[in-house]
Amino acid sequence: MSTSSDQTVIDAVATSHKELASWVEDVAALTKPDRVYWVDGSAEESERLNAELVESGTLVKLTDPNFPNSYAGFSDPKDVARVEERTFICSKKKEDAGFTNNWEDPEKMKSMLNGLFDGSMRGRTMYVIPFVMGPLDAETPAYGVEITDSAYVVASMRIMAKIGTEVLRKMEAENAFFVPALHSVGAPLKPGQKDVAWPCNDDKWIVHFPEERSIMSYGSGYGGNALLGKKCYSLRIASAMARDEGWLAEHMLILKLTSPQNKAYHIAAAFPSACGKTNLALLDPTIEGWKAETLGDDINWMRIGSKGELRGVNPEYGLFGVAPGTGWSTNPNAMRAIAKGNNIFTNVALTDEGGVWWEGMTDEAPAHLIDWLGNDWTPESGRPAAHPNSRFCTPISQVDMLSEDYYSPNGVKIDAILFGGRRKTTIPLVTEARSWTNGIFMGSTLSSETTAAAAGATGVIRRDPMAMLPFIGYNAGDYLNHWDQISTKLNEEQMPKIFLVNWFRRTADGGFAWPGFGDNSRVLKWAIDRIEGTADAKETIIGNVPTGESIDLTGLEGFTPADVEAAVAVNKDEWATEVEGIEEWYANFGDALPASLRAELDGLKARLSA
Ligand code: GTP
Ligand code: MN
Ligand code: MN
Repeated sequence: MSTSSDQTVIDAVATSHKELASWVEDVAALTKPDRVYWVDGSAEESERLNAELVESGTLVKLTDPNFPNSYAGFSDPKDVARVEERTFICSKKKEDAGFTNNWEDPEKMKSMLNGLFDGSMRGRTMYVIPFVMGPLDAETPAYGVEITDSAYVVASMRIMAKIGTEVLRKMEAENAFFVPALHSVGAPLKPGQKDVAWPCNDDKWIVHFPEERSIMSYGSGYGGNALLGKKCYSLRIASAMARDEGWLAEHMLILKLTSPQNKAYHIAAAFPSACGKTNLALLDPTIEGWKAETLGDDINWMRIGSKGELRGVNPEYGLFGVAPGTGWSTNPNAMRAIAKGNNIFTNVALTDEGGVWWEGMTDEAPAHLIDWLGNDWTPESGRPAAHPNSRFCTPISQVDMLSEDYYSPNGVKIDAILFGGRRKTTIPLVTEARSWTNGIFMGSTLSSETTAAAAGATGVIRRDPMAMLPFIGYNAGDYLNHWDQISTKLNEEQMPKIFLVNWFRRTADGGFAWPGFGDNSRVLKWAIDRIEGTADAKETIIGNVPTGESIDLTGLEGFTPADVEAAVAVNKDEWATEVEGIEEWYANFGDALPASLRAELDGLKARLSA
């Protein structure tokens, strides 16, 4: 052990990686922790840290045998979701961040943040987490190092990424580039001051420097704000890398479907937060003879393969899924993975048996719970027991339906791309794009009613291009151009077919127009049959929708081809309003909007008024 200025004790895991060693030293000198600890990623270490988190009151160890080796944490009520208004893309030039991002000059931002980080880890341990996103045996592994003063973040990162000494050694051997990701909860402790269960700061800053590929996050301990390998690295920073290097980093699930004829297809799907990715990724098909396997539920890195095909890889090692609505009837595959244990739950409710519960886990709520705020709860309480954005954090290796291709560094060939949002009206259950460009148009105009996954009002319609609105690490116009450019590098015959889906359309009486969940396999089957050229479709002004008879309804009680027709109806009045919304949305891009997309909108307008 060595002692730096201000009495910081540094554990003796020296690294031969010079940049890393000097960055760790600099951060320790700035943040002034009691101790610097290098995370090795071992099971013993995890047990020790979890025990410390229980001791400090951050985590509760579950005693219900149905949740082996699992913990529940409860955040500060003001720290429950990603904070988009506090998220910044600090490129050198403002226009490189574009209208979808908050921006500040990087030097100004750094000097302000350095002020906040000065002494921010006093009284705490500073953890150094070497990690890799995606396979460690990738051609160029995507290394990162997160420095954090939150043991909860270490425990969660251990589930979401490959971390520890093995990663560090390979990074050293290659003298590899890594993304430095600095995180502090912003709650220094005075000598003798008692800690709170969930330290955080009302002043929150989630800041990205896309040009130098670095991240600084201050004030929040929750999810995407704090587990910096996830949204910050694998989407915001990675999207900027992807633009420069000719690939795509997307907010997508990856699903493998095998037909009764034993032909495999891979589907990537981009839906905004809390709009069904984890559910579709863990699909239990309700149609006979079809097999589903998962590769990923949130992030998809797509590179162009040697045959000009698009190949997808999931860079994550765990699921960080929305808990409410995940249940034995809606998502049994997630429940089975959770039942194997090793979970960290956040902001769910505690049962009297020492387990957890959330809305939708079971049909009937338990008679008594402790809600996420720590209060007694009964079904009569009239308020949710779990926070709507409560999460389960679970190793992906525990998913029974995990495809063995998940471990392949070269990923899988993507055959279809789905874009989808949460819309009560207007958007049909499924629409096949007329072309790749028309598909990009669908993605670029994707919209959804807002959910609890981000702070702010819920239920408002917002445009969310490719479900990446909060995650594009550069100018959104350049991002759409990049999608446009990718197509020129793909082999015509290998291009994925693009579809727009909406599981959330309502009928006149307010119910869902489509049963959703496992029955979404019927929609996927139609999409695959369209790829094979065997399913019927009806041409509409927006693209091709299924005919009532072309969706396989075998075994779906009480749902008729007429109901399919209602679910895919294209209402011209609704589309007239929609086109106005798209016009307004596109106006934000100014000159940066690709001409091909403007032409798509003009085409739609012409068809609408024809
Ligand atoms: P992030 O992890 O935040 O990016 O979100 P996600 O896209 O993974 O969302 P998730 O799968 O967790 O879905 C969240 C909500 O969508 C839950 O309330 C589900 O009940 C609901 N949901 C998912 N699939 C369907 C569906 O097919 N139909 C309906 N009606 N609801 C669905
Ligand atoms: Mn997500
Ligand atoms: Mn999810």
